[in-house]
Amino acid sequence: MLAIFFTLFIALASAYPARGPCTGDCWTHDPAMIQRVSDGTYFRFSTGTGVNTMTSSSLKGPWTDVGSALPNGSVITLDGVDSSNIWAPDVHYQGGTYYMYYVLSKLGTQTSQIGVATSKTMEPGSWTDHGIIGIPANSAYNRIDPNWITIGGKQYIQFGSYWQDLYQVALESPLQVGSNTPHQIAYNASLNHRVEAAFLYEHGSYYYLFFSGGIAGSYTATYPAQGEEYRVHVCRSTSGTGGFVDEAGTSCLESGGTIILASHDQVYAPGGQGVLTDKDLGPVLYYHYYPLSVKEAGGTGVSGYKYGWNELDFSTGWPVVKAV
Ligand SMILES: *[C@@H]1O[C@H](CO)[C@@H](O)[C@H](O)[C@H]1NC(C)=O
Ligand SMILES: *[C@@H]1O[C@H](CO)[C@@H](O)[C@H](O)[C@H]1NC(C)=O
Repeated sequence: MLAIFFTLFIALASAYPARGPCTGDCWTHDPAMIQRVSDGTYFRFSTGTGVNTMTSSSLKGPWTDVGSALPNGSVITLDGVDSSNIWAPDVHYQGGTYYMYYVLSKLGTQTSQIGVATSKTMEPGSWTDHGIIGIPANSAYNRIDPNWITIGGKQYIQFGSYWQDLYQVALESPLQVGSNTPHQIAYNASLNHRVEAAFLYEHGSYYYLFFSGGIAGSYTATYPAQGEEYRVHVCRSTSGTGGFVDEAGTSCLESGGTIILASHDQVYAPGGQGVLTDKDLGPVLYYHYYPLSVKEAGGTGVSGYKYGWNELDFSTGWPVVKAV
């Protein structure tokens, strides 16, 4: 009897620690987070009109909605797409300038483009849009969910969603791909290949490829079967340009990918993640999730999404989500 009780207790205990706290405006969707070099202010950018921008002096908030990065939309024109409906920003700092990669796309199609904008301050309206970075069209991939990294002094963009999943391409300059050709870095052979939102992060001797698997959904009237909803996976590699494997040693080109964060407590369907190297806390995983209470009340879709974060512990060689 005691053994049965104990087993039940373990089964009910959450597999993941509580998310970090948030006050103020905690809405987000596909967040990108970075601390401004000049004053340490945290910026959180989200999918939404002109790229929604929120700022705070702490990860915990209070967060304030300060406006749109590109209030007049992108210079990119795509058939049937509102140029101010900008997705999946990715922001980094390099040589005194902030670079924002972003997406225009027609939902569920390969009519998509990745663009780039630059700013010295990240303030709303301070961004100069440079338009398309020039990833060649290919039926193998969808040009969405960009993520920038530098490996051995060379710059790369990770991108992709569904179809043949995640790709990487070298950049000729921060603004252009040039003649470089994308190569595949992760693929899930199952169903319709539900893998997106790559985020490559260098730590110790490895490059860690974080991605979102499962159904992002808008979570309103219908919900995915339990376990099929968004969650965060990771693979690692020593080169950063290929050879990604999961914790079991399975190649991430062959459906591998260790789950490090999935639905728990009030956190339903976490994903759209990234990793911030916090000045004080070190590596922090940030993500959007759908509060279980909103889901249980019937759902509001994307407007109900919230921002979550947890410190990451890499001491085993694999990232583990830590309690705050
Ligand atoms: C947006 O467009 C308006 C009208 O053309 C212009 O006055 C304004 O400066 C533009 N804002 C930015 C940030 O480019
Ligand atoms: C691959 O896809 C299947 C079906 O959606 C899913 O059950 C599995 O968790 C996925 N694995 C990875 C690593 O994405």
